[in-house]
Amino acid sequence: MGIHFGADYNPEQWPEEVWEQDLSLMKRAHVTMVTAGIFSWARAEPRPGAYDFGWFDRVMDGLGGAGIRVCLATMTASPPPWLTRAHPEVLPQGPDGQRRWPGGRQHYCPSSPVYREHAVRLAERLAARYAGHPALAMWHVGNEYGCHTRQCFCDVSAADFRRWLRERYGSVEQLNTAWSTAFWSQAYADFDEVLPPRTAPTFPNPAQQLDYLRFSDDALRRCYLAEKEVLARLSPGVPVTTNLMPFHKPVDAFAWSADMDAMALDFYQDPFDPETHLRAAFTFDLMRSARGGQPWLLLEQAPGAVNWRAVNGPKPPGAMRLWSWQAVAQGADAVLYFQWRQSRGGAEKFHSAMVPHAGTDTRVFREVSDLGRELASVPELAGTRAVPPTAALVVDWDSWRALELDSHPSSRLRLPELALGHYRPLFAAGVACDVVPPDRDLSGYRLVVVPNLYAVTGACAERLASYVRGGGQLLVSFFSGVVDDCDRVHPGGCPGPLREVLGLRVEEFWPLEEDTAVGVRGCGGAAGGWDLPDGRADLWSEDVRLEGAEAVAEFTDGELAGSPAVTRHGYGAGTATYVGTRLEPALMRALLDGVRAAAGVRPVLAGLPAGVQATVREGAGGRFLFLLNHGGRAADIALPCPMADVLAGARGEREDHTYQVALPARGVAVLRDLRRAAATAT
Ligand code: GLA
Repeated sequence: MGIHFGADYNPEQWPEEVWEQDLSLMKRAHVTMVTAGIFSWARAEPRPGAYDFGWFDRVMDGLGGAGIRVCLATMTASPPPWLTRAHPEVLPQGPDGQRRWPGGRQHYCPSSPVYREHAVRLAERLAARYAGHPALAMWHVGNEYGCHTRQCFCDVSAADFRRWLRERYGSVEQLNTAWSTAFWSQAYADFDEVLPPRTAPTFPNPAQQLDYLRFSDDALRRCYLAEKEVLARLSPGVPVTTNLMPFHKPVDAFAWSADMDAMALDFYQDPFDPETHLRAAFTFDLMRSARGGQPWLLLEQAPGAVNWRAVNGPKPPGAMRLWSWQAVAQGADAVLYFQWRQSRGGAEKFHSAMVPHAGTDTRVFREVSDLGRELASVPELAGTRAVPPTAALVVDWDSWRALELDSHPSSRLRLPELALGHYRPLFAAGVACDVVPPDRDLSGYRLVVVPNLYAVTGACAERLASYVRGGGQLLVSFFSGVVDDCDRVHPGGCPGPLREVLGLRVEEFWPLEEDTAVGVRGCGGAAGGWDLPDGRADLWSEDVRLEGAEAVAEFTDGELAGSPAVTRHGYGAGTATYVGTRLEPALMRALLDGVRAAAGVRPVLAGLPAGVQATVREGAGGRFLFLLNHGGRAADIALPCPMADVLAGARGEREDHTYQVALPARGVAVLRDLRRAAATAT
């Protein structure tokens, strides 16, 4: 079947005569899959209960006839005007009590039974009509849940929240304990007194805020599940998914992954961001890891510019190809864009598309068509999987949400950026890395990196401790183990239940102001045989007291001069490293290099020039090495064995066997490992 290639297809924006042209252009561009109907609700159900699918039958039949598979959207992402006119209570409400008006999209309260009932009814009609359609490949429910409406604070949501709380806590006494309501006279006598954390004169109760984030995620997931249930019932065996956004706090990707038949992601690289490929790599690793290495779908990216940043530059020549191959290199089996044909009107008319306003005699159309041809030339890639990494980085949505609540020692801690600071040195070293939740079995990893795990339960701490006892290398960074899952500080303070495994306690937090940094000096000869150079650190520092750990580095100035900045603790058969500050990137690289060397975690390919990413996928189709040059310079790369350039065919060249690859800036090579091929042949 090959790697799927295509786009969001919104035919309702165009007269039918354009559809014919679309089909022949899709063939020219080597499109194999489109995701259709995402915003078609008003056209498919122009009046309540009056469905018009005749036009969509023609779309489906046309696509099917052209051999293009459809990831069929359930059309429920933007309710039509008649729905919100008849039922204004469907509209979401902000924390300030203000209703959001229709006129954009995603203007629905996730708890609204009226919205859900109408959405499910539409999904049911679609499933009944298209379940057996030969073009149907999979279902795409909603669209980017929580993108615009992350939470609703209306009375319907309030009632739903109270139901959710009753289920979670059983009694109001338990709720009072969990929410620490003895503080500020907040004790509840009855669940009926509880409200969402609406705008209050000052900080709303943090545990209430945290539960409301969990509840809101749940409410969105129940919308997804309500539709999924009818799809699964009426079209058994057809996979169901939805497009997630990268590191999107309202939607816990790990929690959702259990209900998704395949992970699907929208990722919009920023051509002005020199680290855009790094952010992509981190997110792609999460997508791959969420369902244990199963191939995932890049459901949206831009062929060129977007329309929603302050300044929207196009992707320079070769960048779109490079970043698309990056997704495949990191396990994607589909590369789709938003969108097929650039809109003439509406809010996204300046967003690029596979077929731009300027037509097909354009760089964008040529680049996407060339990529389509290339992907089609290597169908054997589909279904291959990343070789399981020996390093993992832990991200916990619950802890992330709690970390970023208000009234903390510093409001400058943002988990995605902090976590990226830990991922960056692994990526730079060419190490393959899973991104996993803390309840995943960690025993298969040699190295586990845990950035800023603010909220830690006893069970979670025990999993990390037993990982180290069993011989693992653990690295944990500052402001970890501070609170439990109700945002209550652990007795004895930080790092709470991680105290024993880390071999230390934190007496006081000393967060640093913006534009301040402190010096850090390596203490020399850590037990693992590695040392840290001198350098700077910022954002955070803390007063660490050693309880068995040794200092690897110490602060050289500021209030904490002479006290530990980085520590190591031999524990059982393993070692736990702790970082009590944010080290500058070079120091963080040195630290991670030391820890991973001690763990025996090696890069995918040794000696790669800076900016070149290497990954491996393998399976029935063979073993493939991907080389991606994100650096600004051409690079010659020595290969460890004879390999064949599998993209040569798409360029009309011979597949020469090689031990060396010349990779231009933004170049991509996909190389078949001939040893593996020979082994399979014999
Ligand atoms: C998101 C949405 C699409 C479109 C694009 C534009 O990914 O899912 O409908 O709005 O953004 O970048």
